[in-house]
Amino acid sequence: MNSNELRRKFINFFKSKGHAVVPSSSLVPDDPSVLLTTAGMQQFKKYFTGELDAQKDFGSKNTTSIQKSFRTSDIDEVGDDTHDTFFEMLGNFSFGGYFKKEAIEYAHDFLTRELGLEIDYVTVFEGDKEVPADTESEEIWRSLGVINIKRLGRADNFWGPTGVEGPCGPTTEIFMKNLKSEVWNLVFNQYYLHPDGFLEKLKTPGADTGMGLERLATVAQKKRNIFETDLFAPLLALIDEGKPERVKRIIADHGRAVSFLISDGVIPSNKGAGYVLRRLMRRMIVHGTEFEKLFAKVVEIYGETYKELNLKQILQEFEKENSKFQKTLKSGLRELGKLEKIDAASGFKLYETYGLPFEILKDAEISGDKAKGLNREDFEKEFAKHQEKSRAGAEKKFGGHGLLLDTGELKAVDERELKIVTRLHTATHLMQAALREVLGPEVKQNGSDITAERTRFDFFFSRKVTPEEIKKVEDLVNKKIAEDLPVSFVELPLEEAKLTGALYFSAQGRSASGGKAKYGSKVKVYYIGKDLETAWSREFCGGPHVSHTSEVGKFKILKEESASSGIRRIRAIVE
Ligand code: SER
Repeated sequence: MNSNELRRKFINFFKSKGHAVVPSSSLVPDDPSVLLTTAGMQQFKKYFTGELDAQKDFGSKNTTSIQKSFRTSDIDEVGDDTHDTFFEMLGNFSFGGYFKKEAIEYAHDFLTRELGLEIDYVTVFEGDKEVPADTESEEIWRSLGVINIKRLGRADNFWGPTGVEGPCGPTTEIFMKNLKSEVWNLVFNQYYLHPDGFLEKLKTPGADTGMGLERLATVAQKKRNIFETDLFAPLLALIDEGKPERVKRIIADHGRAVSFLISDGVIPSNKGAGYVLRRLMRRMIVHGTEFEKLFAKVVEIYGETYKELNLKQILQEFEKENSKFQKTLKSGLRELGKLEKIDAASGFKLYETYGLPFEILKDAEISGDKAKGLNREDFEKEFAKHQEKSRAGAEKKFGGHGLLLDTGELKAVDERELKIVTRLHTATHLMQAALREVLGPEVKQNGSDITAERTRFDFFFSRKVTPEEIKKVEDLVNKKIAEDLPVSFVELPLEEAKLTGALYFSAQGRSASGGKAKYGSKVKVYYIGKDLETAWSREFCGGPHVSHTSEVGKFKILKEESASSGIRRIRAIVE
């Protein structure tokens, strides 16, 4: 039974049970609480909470879909028999239509009667202090003749929300003969988890089920693992036979994922979904993937079902990343080769200097067992530590002994002035972000001049800024000061830094000292906010800055005027 048939049978089965068929949503969700779409239920969240009405929108309280999904949490697992990053999730959902009895009966019916497959065992929630055991599901399974039932705890049989809050509840999972993981997860949404941890009972309980197509195909096609199914085998066949099986699997998985991510509009970058994409691409590149034929095959396998797949676009984006990464890859691997052991500090250095992501450092094919002791958590810690150290360095350099500070942009004759210009400097970054929020992205810095008296900021903008707008900018800056946001920086290779979305002087802009801005091969990106990805302000900058925005004090704009044609000038102070 090929996977096209499996998709069709699934949809037709639930259609015949009165479900509305809903197309997959994008891998890039509207929901800001998640990076990428991880499950079929995500696009239906508001129907579970009652904010939206399924009957009205779909003509039924029950829906079914095949959802493109992506799990970053499984990246390290790829290479075993059952895990992949991108996958298709077959799902049926009910928002107050049916609950445990029908959901379990449908699943049982579909697997055993429709497909003629054999269930090995199922699991149900054993209960804990807050939530009682799911004896109801257990009873229903027994009534269907499934008696091999395991009771498990929260980690296995309770579905938490995608994000800090949302619908959740006990689950029952179905395991098939000869498959090492569950094939289908039925979630019974009974509660709403609030950000403070409070579990509220939902007025209308609902059913949310998800079955991995790749795993179902493994069972239905009597294969040993997902990579032998018709969804993967043609890809593996294209990969150089000399490569170890695990590497082949990683390349095939990443090849699919990269194709779908790009076709849903993700581009490689150093933040968010773009960073996930970049890591997958670099892993393919480091293993010398012949990507053209691989991507062509992905589009051949999936193009019928997913019209958005665009081979030209995929190849273009991949080639761009490839030529960028090739510039640092060789030296990076050479440095890696010289190391006896890769720990968090040396690993981070390889990342920082040569752009080798964690997964590549950990890859046994690349680093042997050198990185055996390296784990993700320590790597992240190193990142944070590095930021602190750089800050301390900057403070020492600028911090005193009566040093005259003159960066071209900032000038101070003594400690007292240094403190003020540092505050004004951070205020200037906040002001640029606020101007862009209030007036739009047309606003771009042309130069600034900061003394102990004031900051003077010139920017491209085509008209006078109204007093109301000035007030808005002022208020917004003061709001961000009151939020006491951390100010930090990272140092990145120039081209990577540009991809963070940070502001910098482009050819159009001129540096503070009057000449065209020149950047070295590595630049610092200062950001204001919790992390680089979500930061409210990001700029290329040499510092110094305060460490938290509350140190800036009260911000006040004194004057707005024309500096020259198409350029406005603002003078502002901090109190
Ligand atoms: N949300 C559940 C899961 O992802 C069922 O669809 O497993």
